[in-house]
Amino acid sequence: MKFSQASRLQTLRTGVFHEIAIRQRIAEQKGLTIDLSKGSPDMGPPEVVLNALKAAVSDSRNYGYTLTGIEEFHEAVAYFYRQRYGVKLDPRTEVLQLIGSQDGLAHLPLSLMNPGDIAILPDPGYPVYEAGIKLAGGIPYLMPLLKENSFYPDFDSIPTEIAHRAKLMYLNYPGNPVNVLADEAFFRKAVDFAKRYNILLVHDFAYSELVFDGKRSTSLLAIPGAKDVSVEFNSLSKTFNMAGCRIGYIVGNEHVLQALELLKSNIDFGVFLPIQKAAVAALTSDYSSITETVKIYQERRDIFTSYLAQGGWKVEKPSATMFLWSKVPRGWTGRQFVFDVLEHTGVALTPGDAFGEMGKDYVRIALVQPIDRLIEAGERIQKFLSRFTGSPVETNVYI
Ligand SMILES: Cc1ncc(COP(=O)(O)O)c(C=O)c1O
Repeated sequence: MKFSQASRLQTLRTGVFHEIAIRQRIAEQKGLTIDLSKGSPDMGPPEVVLNALKAAVSDSRNYGYTLTGIEEFHEAVAYFYRQRYGVKLDPRTEVLQLIGSQDGLAHLPLSLMNPGDIAILPDPGYPVYEAGIKLAGGIPYLMPLLKENSFYPDFDSIPTEIAHRAKLMYLNYPGNPVNVLADEAFFRKAVDFAKRYNILLVHDFAYSELVFDGKRSTSLLAIPGAKDVSVEFNSLSKTFNMAGCRIGYIVGNEHVLQALELLKSNIDFGVFLPIQKAAVAALTSDYSSITETVKIYQERRDIFTSYLAQGGWKVEKPSATMFLWSKVPRGWTGRQFVFDVLEHTGVALTPGDAFGEMGKDYVRIALVQPIDRLIEAGERIQKFLSRFTGSPVETNVYI
């Protein structure tokens, strides 16, 4: 028997990912694919996390429903925020545990938006923002992130009637796919805009710690008065290489957290206790594993971009995240470039239009392979590019 899908599912985007998956399967059958398409870390968590997890998994008392975050977890998040971003949080009211930040990003609109409400989103942006809004019956308004504006939105170009009707605005710095850092001046402008129009700022800070060249990221909540109008999602997935060990959190405005907590109390029964304990160990560790992870990604970034440059493709070195985000060489759309590279080299990338219309000439490259595989991928792409032109391709892109 065939059952029809709910009409709300028809609003969700699946097209690009589906097509990529099919082509990747074909390439894999030919062998020798190198997957740089998925934002899943290839490294493991630090020893301190593995030990906490092992100890807790071996204790048969840890297998009940947890329902909510344990007190030590809430305190560990508050400690982490004080240490890393100088932000003070009330662990009881300003921290809410999630089954990964994805859980919260998907459910937040359901707990705050009524059908027909507007949410302002970055284009390009991480797909779950739009999906969550559509599932809640909300209407996305896309604000372009353009290179000429340093990939920040131009708040002045948002029509006043949209700003008045908007309930949420999403930001993601450093982000996926746009990998730039936000400075305090930008966040101050965002907070002013949110206060003027009574909008909740939703900052996705999942890549908060993957920052290079000695720089540091800024928490939106470090801006004076931000908690009145903001929440921030964070995650252990990338910071501590725990992506499959599902745990994350949202911090900030307590009324928003209460709404999300109420919704979640009707949906899930909490995070497995050993995972919570492992997260406490990570958040209260000496953070030397973060330094190590950052060093590895930075080295990968430097080596891989140098191989692409030798092929004539100048890709800017990002200050943050595990991703390169670049315009493709002239003559291709992002999608066609990804398909051609996959077919001719076996290297899998993600086309920028998977993240929105503004990404159509871009490609995202996830640095989630060890150096030797990245060198192999870099050499293959280099060869592929010079085959097309006989000489280094004329790119003139993203410089
Ligand atoms: C920008 C961004 N936000 C949130 C997430 C979700 O992370 P998690 O649910 O593992 O915390 C991801 C995952 O790749 C991401 O790229």
